[in-house]
Amino acid sequence: MLRDTPSTVYLKDYLPPEFLIDQVMLWFDLDETETRVRSRLELRRNPAAQSRSPDLRLHGEQLELISLSLDGQPVAPAGYLQDDEGLTVRQVPDQFVLESEVRILPQQNTALEGLYKSGGLFCTQCEAEGFRKITWYLDRPDVMSRFTTTICADKQRYPVLLSNGNPSDTVELEDGRHRITWTDPFPKPAYLFALVAGDLRAIEDSHTTPSGREVTLRIYVEPENIDKCDHAMASLKRAMAWDEQQYGREYDLDIYMIVAVNDFNMGAMENKGLNIFNSKFVLASPATATDRDFQGIESVIAHEYFHNWTGNRITCRDWFQLSLKEGLTVFRDQEFSADMGSRGVKRIEDVRLLRAHQFAEDAGPMAHPVRPDSYMEINNFYTVTVYEKGAEVVRMQANLLGPEAFRGGTDLYFERFDGQAVTTDDFVQCMADAGQRDLGQFKRWYSQAGTPELTIQGVYDAAQQTYTLTVEQHCPATPGQPDKEPFLIPLAVGLLDDRGTDLALRLAGDSDPGPTTRMLEISEPRQQFVFEQVPVAPVPSLLRGFSAPVKVRFDYSNEQLMFLMAHDSDGFSRWDAAQTLAQRILLQLVDDPDSLVPEGFVQAFRQALQDSASDPALLAEVLTLPAESYLGDQMAEVDVEGIHRAREQLKTLLASELKTELLAVYRDNEVTGEYRPDADAIGRRSLRNLALGYLMQLEDQAIQALCIAQYRAGNNMTDVITALSLLADRDIPETAELLEGFYQQWRDDPLVLDKWFSLQAMSKRPDTLERVKGLLDHPAFSIANPNKVRSLIGAFCSGNPVRFHAADGAGYRFLSDRVLELDQLNPQVAARMVRLMTRWQRYDPARQRLMQTQLERILHTSGVSRDVYEIVSKSLEHA
Ligand code: TRP
Ligand code: ZN
Repeated sequence: MLRDTPSTVYLKDYLPPEFLIDQVMLWFDLDETETRVRSRLELRRNPAAQSRSPDLRLHGEQLELISLSLDGQPVAPAGYLQDDEGLTVRQVPDQFVLESEVRILPQQNTALEGLYKSGGLFCTQCEAEGFRKITWYLDRPDVMSRFTTTICADKQRYPVLLSNGNPSDTVELEDGRHRITWTDPFPKPAYLFALVAGDLRAIEDSHTTPSGREVTLRIYVEPENIDKCDHAMASLKRAMAWDEQQYGREYDLDIYMIVAVNDFNMGAMENKGLNIFNSKFVLASPATATDRDFQGIESVIAHEYFHNWTGNRITCRDWFQLSLKEGLTVFRDQEFSADMGSRGVKRIEDVRLLRAHQFAEDAGPMAHPVRPDSYMEINNFYTVTVYEKGAEVVRMQANLLGPEAFRGGTDLYFERFDGQAVTTDDFVQCMADAGQRDLGQFKRWYSQAGTPELTIQGVYDAAQQTYTLTVEQHCPATPGQPDKEPFLIPLAVGLLDDRGTDLALRLAGDSDPGPTTRMLEISEPRQQFVFEQVPVAPVPSLLRGFSAPVKVRFDYSNEQLMFLMAHDSDGFSRWDAAQTLAQRILLQLVDDPDSLVPEGFVQAFRQALQDSASDPALLAEVLTLPAESYLGDQMAEVDVEGIHRAREQLKTLLASELKTELLAVYRDNEVTGEYRPDADAIGRRSLRNLALGYLMQLEDQAIQALCIAQYRAGNNMTDVITALSLLADRDIPETAELLEGFYQQWRDDPLVLDKWFSLQAMSKRPDTLERVKGLLDHPAFSIANPNKVRSLIGAFCSGNPVRFHAADGAGYRFLSDRVLELDQLNPQVAARMVRLMTRWQRYDPARQRLMQTQLERILHTSGVSRDVYEIVSKSLEHA
């Protein structure tokens, strides 16, 4: 916990390590009250070091030193110095062996970083800087070493003992204990170390790589969950085959293990050969998991597997380079999911997430570049910017190079840097070499924060038959970066003729008409592109496929947007046109509830609903109105209540105008037979449930009966939870009983109860905050469990804007109370929660003051963590 103002770490201060560690041997003695860790480090001076101090400085926190020796000789008390952050060993030789023994207390580790207990299991989380809570070490990613790990524990309680690499035989010890040694042949940074011990069951399968290596695949879970692992295993096998196919990358050890744990700060962790997962991203059955859960599992399993090459074999030089592994790996998992399901829908989902969260982050007090240049607490930089915008930055390089050169670039990257800890510049250089082009300007995407805005104008010259696009780029200031240099932006455009057909595009100077989509390269503050031989005034389709993470401003008429919605050959752009139009109508309704909704809009929805040829999943995306929080981001000052009212108003209007069509869609898209989470069935369920959502706006008893019937039919969790959520929004007499029944049915399944907490937290009912407060005391809730915190507190504060931002400030007080409570236990999760209040400047003066008061209260609480301090202080600083 914090004593002084935390210090800031800067990228510009990076220096190579003074020492390297060739070999690490670890011995763990796990016990109910304390754990002892012995370590043996083979150290030597780094020939590439740029500085030379006589002493060795090792990281280490919350370690109780038992013994320390150098080359077999105990180090005298005067020979070392221990403080809160590490150990200094004085006057060390150039090459030596350092042995130490420490005592740690995993049972008291509520931060879930380092070695901790989750239920009856011991497990670890070392990224980013958790290894230093296990033993003294050079806990930085550019120190890579070979690890040998011996684990000793009670055999009854901990029959399964796991670590990275390959296992030796188990040795039985006299006192009911047993011991095993794991050897990892690949040098790795300490953040990829893992250990698990517990009473686990496993499902096993195998995969043969193209080079003929037979890999044993095992998923370990607590005994009661053994029949919920099949989807995770199938996903893993698909991911392995895909990486072999698409990137020519195969797995490199004889065994690949996944362990599911209930207490975990994030989604999952790519530890070498031993991934540790939040059980939310492993366990699934049709009765307990929704379509989203099935998709989430497939993508997170793939993500962690893909890290074996993009992250583990090639890792980050320092934590400023985090997006080197995360942006690239997210791009890879996005493409994998696109190939496994519906590519168009996947792209829409990813863009929706980016716009909702990353654009907001980029416009707020925590805005930072994809490669940040400073931080106080690195855990605060596992952000949507580093992950999702980082993935877009990789995608843009793929767009600029084309598929073949991009694959050449990744091949070069793997070849050039295997076994090394490198930088985002190293990655871009491979792309530049493979694409044979200069990407110097492109690199600004890594160093400049903020979302660029493109203002585009189109002028048709009938006499000359030309169409001229004028593109201006501008990037708003972000904290610490008042002025920005122009970006290199791939802008995919098409032109539609008056019948909605794509024109072949011929730019000035082209000898032949080109393809119907062109990737324009925007590099100047202002640029013009002249298309020739354009027979009619076209409607431009801009940023097809979302070719760059930018905002586009073009003065479309409502009619043009409806035209694009109906005709654009690019699915993403059809969806985008619908969103733009819906947003325009909604913002008008916020200003004036009596403003008229264009008849054409309702008509366009009607046509879409009646078009039996369209893909249900895409249709569901098109018919989903922009979220309240996203609408707020489009306003100069967020009008919380106005937005909620306008969105409800438009939903009700659409429902009453289109009741017949919605009922038909509901009827026609029933999925019968055995539950399967394939793209087709998922699409139909999502369209059908969307229709039910609209229909429930009508407060119609027959429809409520339909909703209750869907709940009771209980075919799959997607349909059940949708129905229950819709019922929980309303004062329907049956709701209380159904909620209680659901709890009784699922009281032993924590992941299902997470959904139960969430849907109550997101209820539109006016008394939701009181109910949420009540649920804090529910026996199934625990503030020590991050999934529960996210399901109840997170869902309320981020998924229920109109209740969280209640004018009396009760929501803000509720959040800050929880943050202070949580910060004592788990600073990482507390810092995630407090972010939900940091965009206070976007609201009216009264709400601003209420939020500021709470933020100041948190900041001035003694003992606040570095994690929370950084977020709160930065949000108050930019007033
Ligand atoms: N590297 C992990 C991933 O993206 C992220 C992660 C898991 C993490 N657990 C963490 C990051 C704890 C910080 C702290 O897959
Ligand atoms: Zn990752």
